Amino acid sequence: MTETPKAPYTTNNAGIPVESDEHSLTIGPSGPILLQDHYLIEKMAQFNRERVPERVVHAKGSGAYGFFEVTNDVSQFTKADLFQPGKRTDMLARFSTVAGELGSPDTWRDPRGFALKFYTEHGNYDMVGNNTPIFFVRDPIKFQDFIRSQKRHPATGLRNNEMQWDFWTLSPESAHQVTWLMGDRGIPRSYRFMNGYSSHTYMWVNGGGERFWVKYHFKTDQGIEFLTQDEADELAGHDADKHRRDLYEAIGSGNAPSWSLKVQIMPFEDAPNYRFNPFDLTKVWPHGDYPLIDVGRMTLNKNPEDYFVHIEQAAFEPSNLVPGIGPSPDKMLLGRLFSYPDTHRYRIGPNYAQLPPNRPHSAVNSYAKDGPMRYVPSNASMPYAPNSFGGPAADVARFGDPAGWATAGDMVREATKVHQDDDDWGQAGTQVREVLDDAARDRLVANVSGHLLQGVSQPVLGRAFQYWRNIDKKIGDRIANKVNGG
Ligand code: NDP
Ligand code: HEM
Repeated sequence: MTETPKAPYTTNNAGIPVESDEHSLTIGPSGPILLQDHYLIEKMAQFNRERVPERVVHAKGSGAYGFFEVTNDVSQFTKADLFQPGKRTDMLARFSTVAGELGSPDTWRDPRGFALKFYTEHGNYDMVGNNTPIFFVRDPIKFQDFIRSQKRHPATGLRNNEMQWDFWTLSPESAHQVTWLMGDRGIPRSYRFMNGYSSHTYMWVNGGGERFWVKYHFKTDQGIEFLTQDEADELAGHDADKHRRDLYEAIGSGNAPSWSLKVQIMPFEDAPNYRFNPFDLTKVWPHGDYPLIDVGRMTLNKNPEDYFVHIEQAAFEPSNLVPGIGPSPDKMLLGRLFSYPDTHRYRIGPNYAQLPPNRPHSAVNSYAKDGPMRYVPSNASMPYAPNSFGGPAADVARFGDPAGWATAGDMVREATKVHQDDDDWGQAGTQVREVLDDAARDRLVANVSGHLLQGVSQPVLGRAFQYWRNIDKKIGDRIANKVNGG
């Protein structure tokens, strides 16, 4: 006769068998409860500490592990090991909405985060982008104000469309991103059916030290699909976690989603005289000027075993750049290089890099030491550099000069010098007139007017009509007409 296998016995966090899953230790069946029931106390104390702060933006998200494969030789542009011919690199992706809280519906109109972590031979490379190639502002000093205008009103605790339009209409550089947001792509069918973009320009450096400017486009292999406002509103009510469920179930059923990476490459010397400021995050580089070049494909094929451990504790940081990849003079990007490691130290602690999703797959030979929750000992035998005991030594020659550019000038607080075709309305107008078809323009008018009709009053409303007329006279007139009951 075979014995029925026994379930494992419950232990406390120290591995000691506990006496009961159901009854506290009491004097007689009706109590009182005894302080010496340390297992009951452990359960209550642990529960009280289960939450870490949610991300201040991009709080609601979903993610999965996968791999990136190179399909085309781009070694003439970068020496980064993950982009070398034949290379396959493990990775983690997290997609998110921006303004909503941890439990907010996945289908609210919002840009979507597109954060990738590649576990390369030279440490983690993080590409922390969005599903849009542009952004609302171009200076990091405005980011906090922008985000607050999208979140809740301080008095009512409610989302407030008037704050949103107030900020946008006082910040004309937002026009291109707002046009994008109010169009079809402002609500993807799910995370699988949207593209991802670096949005920023980065620098690539090849093995010979030659520099290039680069923009990344991760094109969904599932095709672009979107939800109408009505479909999204309905889903927000009956399946608030729609996009999280979709990603988890697709991967769980073996239907691994993938994205093809293409890049636009600008020769280093083109930047000063290009018709648009190539480092302005509110602008794209038209494909006709810099065509897309194939690089490779990322595939997400492994769901996290534990959502909190792997996704909630994932810490992406645009400052994680590996040899062959560097920043650009985009002021937003330079601001972000500071912000992310800082927020991680606050949100999940100073040793966040040792948590499972953040741990590099290559050697860590850092001189960092101690601090709360540090559990991987340092590789460096002595805690200081330089030392004469064989500790790690930085060697710039080994990986080439740091990716950078020459700069000089007085300290000022000014916008970057305007390039020939720089203005706030032009590319948004091109999108309305040349990218959208009639049906998409009709939906844009309906989406914008529907949004303005929810609590936006004068004078903000009048400014919103003018904002849209600046983008495109006809579309502005149509929006004004619709809001005014025409
Ligand atoms: P193209 O005609 O070469 O490209 C237009 C691009 O627009 C498409 O490739 C597609 O990007 C994107 N697109 C299609 N439908 C929508 C939509 N409903 N909402 C937002 N984007 C959409 O023209 P240009 O490169 O000259 O750019 C013209 C305009 O297109 C720009 O002003 C910009 O607004 C928009 N755009 C440009 C991108 C670029 O990097 N050049 C990227 C995305 C938008 P994709 O192929 O990436 O899906
Ligand atoms: C998340 C700051 C602009 C993409 C965050 C977080 C902060 C932040 C503090 C929370 C991180 C965390 O707790 O883990 C900023 C600042 C910006 C800026 C200061 C501008 C100066 C942008 C832009 C993009 C972007 C332009 C896209 C191109 C993301 C993404 C996340 C994020 C995808 C979520 C990462 C994840 O999935 O964990 N940002 N951000 N941000 N940001 Fe930004």
